Amino acid sequence: MPQKKIIIDTDPGQDDAVAILLALASPDELDVLGITSVAGNVPLELTSKNARIVCELAGRKDLLVFAGCEFPIIRPLITAEHVHGKTGLDGPTLPEPKMPLQEMNGVDFIIETLKVHESNSITLCCLGPLTNIAVAFKREPEIVSKLKEIVMMAGAYFEVGNITPTAEFNVYVDPEAAQIVLNSPVKKTLLPLDVTHKILVTRDKIQAFRNLASPVGEAVSDMLEFSERFDRQKYGTDAAPLHDPSVIAYLLEPNLFSGKFVNVEIETESQLTLGMTVADWWGVSCRKANATFIGNVDSRGFFDLLTERLSKL
Ligand code: BDR
Ligand code: CA
Repeated sequence: MPQKKIIIDTDPGQDDAVAILLALASPDELDVLGITSVAGNVPLELTSKNARIVCELAGRKDLLVFAGCEFPIIRPLITAEHVHGKTGLDGPTLPEPKMPLQEMNGVDFIIETLKVHESNSITLCCLGPLTNIAVAFKREPEIVSKLKEIVMMAGAYFEVGNITPTAEFNVYVDPEAAQIVLNSPVKKTLLPLDVTHKILVTRDKIQAFRNLASPVGEAVSDMLEFSERFDRQKYGTDAAPLHDPSVIAYLLEPNLFSGKFVNVEIETESQLTLGMTVADWWGVSCRKANATFIGNVDSRGFFDLLTERLSKL
């Protein structure tokens, strides 16, 4: 598989952290040009710091991390400390990062990077609210042609919502941004809750990461042990969903996933269903398909891939 050039846009978050580690453990397939942080699970200062903590955990102090937008486009920020803890990365005790945060703003980095690359050459991997991407597209619409595709953890259809009864967190935090991205003329793939609710972390899986007997294995186990406790209670099960690594796994092994090319629109007005991803799964509207909406995953294949890659760090 030819190496893909990617930018990771993220709000770490324990599951974002595992996604970043999966990408950094896959240098043959993925060339990480930079990481842009966005406000989401916790405020921007913390997501920017957490992204660097994760890079250092992976032994990649050389990576470039840029802080992007502090707030959603028009709404106040909603965070998820109730899931991810006060720091956003509660669980393990990890050292303060030594690598610097880049001076350039994350949105500028996205714009400048796309400008100097060829058409159809860069993949955006979006693991948080889509604010940075939407702001970049609004500011410099012509950069969209430089993208090969956007793969994002966003939305839900059959699984409906996790932050409200009808909305998935990343879309709910900045629905206007999500709508701008979905309207953009580029190939888009959504990994929604319909997929991530099939990627269940059991205690055995947490133990398998611990059995890697490495600092990364330990940290991943401690992170997931922390963040998944909330979902176990919420769903009343012994296992909890793992969200963001699905984006990176999709790039590495697309055959593990299946979905449909459908129309997806975002509810941006209703108070009751704000942030809902209205996916026309059955093709009952006349609206034009605009995104691939993934619906299924080979969960065992996913965990085999994740465990094997993490063992390399
Ligand atoms: C998404 O919301 C965040 O809490 C996770 O990091 C993930 O990106 C799941 O809805
Ligand atoms: Ca995230």
